[in-house]
Amino acid sequence: MFEFTYQDSQNRVSETRQKNYGKEHSQLLSYARSCPEEYRDVLGWLDPEDWASQEQLARLEEKAKEVREKADAFVLVGVGGSNNAARSVIKALDQRSGCKVYYAGNTLSPYEINRLLRELEGKSVYIDVIAKNFETLEPGSAFRVLRKFLQEKYGSGAAERIIATGTPGSHLEELCREHGYTFLTFPEPVGGRYSALTDVGLFPMAAAGIDIRKVVQGAKDMRQLLWETDGMDNPAYRYAVIRNLLYQEGIKMEMLSFFEPRYRFFAKWWIQLFAESEGKDGKGIYPVAAECSEDLHSVGQFVQDGSHVMAETFLEVRNQDAAYVLEKDQVDDRFDYLNGVDFWEINRKAFEATRMAHSQCLPCFTITVDAIDEYSFGQLFYFFEFACFLSGKLLGVNPFDQPGVEAYKGYMFKALGKPENIE
Ligand code: PA5
Repeated sequence: MFEFTYQDSQNRVSETRQKNYGKEHSQLLSYARSCPEEYRDVLGWLDPEDWASQEQLARLEEKAKEVREKADAFVLVGVGGSNNAARSVIKALDQRSGCKVYYAGNTLSPYEINRLLRELEGKSVYIDVIAKNFETLEPGSAFRVLRKFLQEKYGSGAAERIIATGTPGSHLEELCREHGYTFLTFPEPVGGRYSALTDVGLFPMAAAGIDIRKVVQGAKDMRQLLWETDGMDNPAYRYAVIRNLLYQEGIKMEMLSFFEPRYRFFAKWWIQLFAESEGKDGKGIYPVAAECSEDLHSVGQFVQDGSHVMAETFLEVRNQDAAYVLEKDQVDDRFDYLNGVDFWEINRKAFEATRMAHSQCLPCFTITVDAIDEYSFGQLFYFFEFACFLSGKLLGVNPFDQPGVEAYKGYMFKALGKPENIE
């Protein structure tokens, strides 16, 4: 099950306006589904079957099994699109195997590097370094540190503990050939933030014991839904249409809110997807996240009473998957109204009350999934990726490039003395 709803008691964009705008751009859905020529080289993710077929999954599962059997620490080395999807699933789903996942190549902090090396001491370590062009500073430098660590620890046995995920023909692939590392494919026609359902996202998940077949099934079923429903009945199109109309009405921020902290890293994935895809040419909705109920005690004030520049997207989970009932207590703490009430219910009431209060002053979307599980992550990845494609097109930007991030890299590489002939 997957549900998408929208409410705004201030009716910023009327049903009629939504309908008309939806009709005006009605070609967009079939255009996007057709894998248009102008984006063909970046739309490899459009059909999950292309990079996550049964054979490809079997290959990943086999290697992942080896990692789980031999390692008790698996280090995912990557940044941005190269680690966000896998990390969001691995962190959300309880440890599914004895192999604990660590993260590197997503920071330049020496404190964090030292901390990681300390934590890896005494453990059997495998690493997967993921980089599309293998120029990115964070994963490149962390790989060097971890290679040294593995060589000192395992000598010639280090190579079999190194997996690298890169584009065919890249320098990373050359290194694999030269040194005997395992090479996995970062598909050329898939950008980092759209790579959840390829070796990039799926291999680390599998190494962590996640059932990647269910993730892929969720994505495939979502694709089918988005291919079978037309116009404003299509939830991705409706979401894209309304958020663009809201943008025209001065809504410049969107907050992803959730009442399960397990979504913390999924929110990072979502933020990256929309920020890098839409924030360009002086346009775009700035994506932020709120982990509720905690953040209601901080940003909640701004949301309710601050400048009304924001829309809110709630991630709702339908099925109860945990329980803790508050018992009656001897101490008169004035919380007796909670006697016998399950935290699930308390959390749910907090969500409903928040949505009721916020929807009186903000436009609110709700996306409901059955559970926080492999299948629904697949649904969410595909839903948001496709919606982002549609939304970027409505906004009039290229959702697949990121020219803005190159500017800081230029200054940084210059400051670090990087030779100009290295790409
Ligand atoms: O979505 C993107 O393209 C980026 O966020 C990249 O994933 C990120 O910059 C990491 O790039 P690379 O995989 O080349 O190290």
